[in-house]
Amino acid sequence: ARQVPDILSPAFAADPYPAYRLMRDTAPLIWHEATRSYLISRYEDVERVFKDRNGEFTTDNYDWQIEPVHGRTILQLNGREHAVRRALVAPAFRGSDLREKFLPVIERNSRELIDVFRDSGSADLVDDYATRFPVNVIADMLGLDKADHARFHRWYTSVIAFLGNLSGDPEVAAAGERTRVEFAAYMLPVIRERRENPGDDLLSTLCAAEVDGVRMSDEDIKAFCSLLLAAGGETTDKAVAGVFANLLRHPDQLAAVRADRGLIPRAFAETLRYTPPVHMIMRQSATEVTLSGGTIPAGATVTCLIGAANRDESRYRDPDRFDIFRDDLTTTTAFSAAADHVAFALGRHFCVGALLAKAEVETGVGQLLDAMPDMRLADGFEPVEEGVFTRGPRRLPVRFTPVPA
Ligand code: HEM
Repeated sequence: ARQVPDILSPAFAADPYPAYRLMRDTAPLIWHEATRSYLISRYEDVERVFKDRNGEFTTDNYDWQIEPVHGRTILQLNGREHAVRRALVAPAFRGSDLREKFLPVIERNSRELIDVFRDSGSADLVDDYATRFPVNVIADMLGLDKADHARFHRWYTSVIAFLGNLSGDPEVAAAGERTRVEFAAYMLPVIRERRENPGDDLLSTLCAAEVDGVRMSDEDIKAFCSLLLAAGGETTDKAVAGVFANLLRHPDQLAAVRADRGLIPRAFAETLRYTPPVHMIMRQSATEVTLSGGTIPAGATVTCLIGAANRDESRYRDPDRFDIFRDDLTTTTAFSAAADHVAFALGRHFCVGALLAKAEVETGVGQLLDAMPDMRLADGFEPVEEGVFTRGPRRLPVRFTPVPA
């Protein structure tokens, strides 16, 4: 039997998909020494762990995985405590608030970035657009000072490096912890000030939120904002870039989306399945659990390989083909713990920002297509994905004939 390449090897980083297939087929449950976790790769198993119908898993792994950079966030919470926190934060990310309050913020922030390169005929969709757009949107939604955007970028980059630090580089770890201190020093005074002078922004909403007599402390809100910058920045950034990388590689599908903007949600859903921004999410087993791939002891860390589950041939036909017209994937990213792929996870911790991400990607892709009617990759450029924990195109240089705004 062929050996499964290690998830920390250069071969895996270059292209994880052949390794994922080999895992699903020959080693659907393997112990991984460096991350001290069990890797699972089949859709059926990943779905079972995320949905956790029998209460067999917790997110206690986040105590060491994210607490040092974010403090205590919703992700670390379990059971009733999680349900209450979820009820406190979720309404702000639902349909009506999103449409009324935040769609204008999304449209404005996208337009501002496009205006910078609109007349130039060339841009890097990653550096000039994708890495800036979602983090600008979150900062703007929270009502933070635009002048500080460069700092948010620096912080969220170091947080992401911390999360992806699977090999445990001590400098990356130290930088992540410094970010927590700097972010707290920045954010706590802003929260106190906003409690005194509330406005119409997301931060004021979070300060005022109350469920069953429970409210969030300044520290809770600070940790949530820290999570939003990273969870809402990095992921949506890679989703926007991924939509274009996939469409530019499939010019017929790009032409179809250009001709019918109603296909953008399909391009987004298929991109999340085919090239998910987050490839690995961990859980901890509370009891011994038997999955299709084997048995995990109690107290073990499990790494759900999202990129592997999303290409499981027992779930999708021809899974290694990018096809926005596939009929085994619908475009509903309902605000619920359900989706047709596991890119947003499933169950209790299902991405709270899924609808926001959808609104951002649909707006951004539409505006970019309008600004660049003949967008094409720069001569000779082939998109390359980077990253193991999170993954997306590192650069996406395009050329286009400018059109009047
Ligand atoms: C949770 C992915 C966009 C905020 C999650 C989880 C995944 C995910 C996989 C589950 C983590 C777990 O179960 O351990 C994504 C992807 C996105 C995206 C692929 C973009 C395409 C956003 C946005 C926001 C956001 C825009 C908000 C601004 C959150 C929060 C949670 C979460 C707060 C924790 C929910 C909970 O613990 O109940 N996301 N996300 N995400 N996401 Fe997203």
